[in-house]
Amino acid sequence: MLKTTFGIGQTLTITGIPTLKATHFAVNIGPDEDDVALHVNPRFDYYGDQKQVVFNSCQGGSWEEEIREGEFPFFHGTEFKIVIKFTGKDFVVSFSDGSNVVFPNRIGLQQYSVISVDGDCSITSFAIV
Ligand code: GAL
Repeated sequence: MLKTTFGIGQTLTITGIPTLKATHFAVNIGPDEDDVALHVNPRFDYYGDQKQVVFNSCQGGSWEEEIREGEFPFFHGTEFKIVIKFTGKDFVVSFSDGSNVVFPNRIGLQQYSVISVDGDCSITSFAIV
């Protein structure tokens, strides 16, 4: 868990490597440790999903409506890159293959302060510009 500032116009770039037996991992951006404005959850094999990225938000302890779109450019043991551009209205999430998914800023704040990466991967770089 990282306390930082991620605001409108900024871009977060994370690279990492899923473990060889990864079932899933997630990048979460939120206003605090309980609420999540953006959850990006690549699922290799998790909760009945195979090779599916699940996008969602979580408010007051409840997950909201999932968005399941786009490609699955993730491979066990191979470095990935996730680029998240925050426009204020949306998060534009781009992957290593150039595909992207737009997720609405449902919580509606202009900046977020908690970023975490959970699950079966190791982070190799992290930058906000
Ligand atoms: C749930 C899962 C959460 C999160 C959420 C996304 O089933 O437990 O970790 O991925 O789906 O909608």
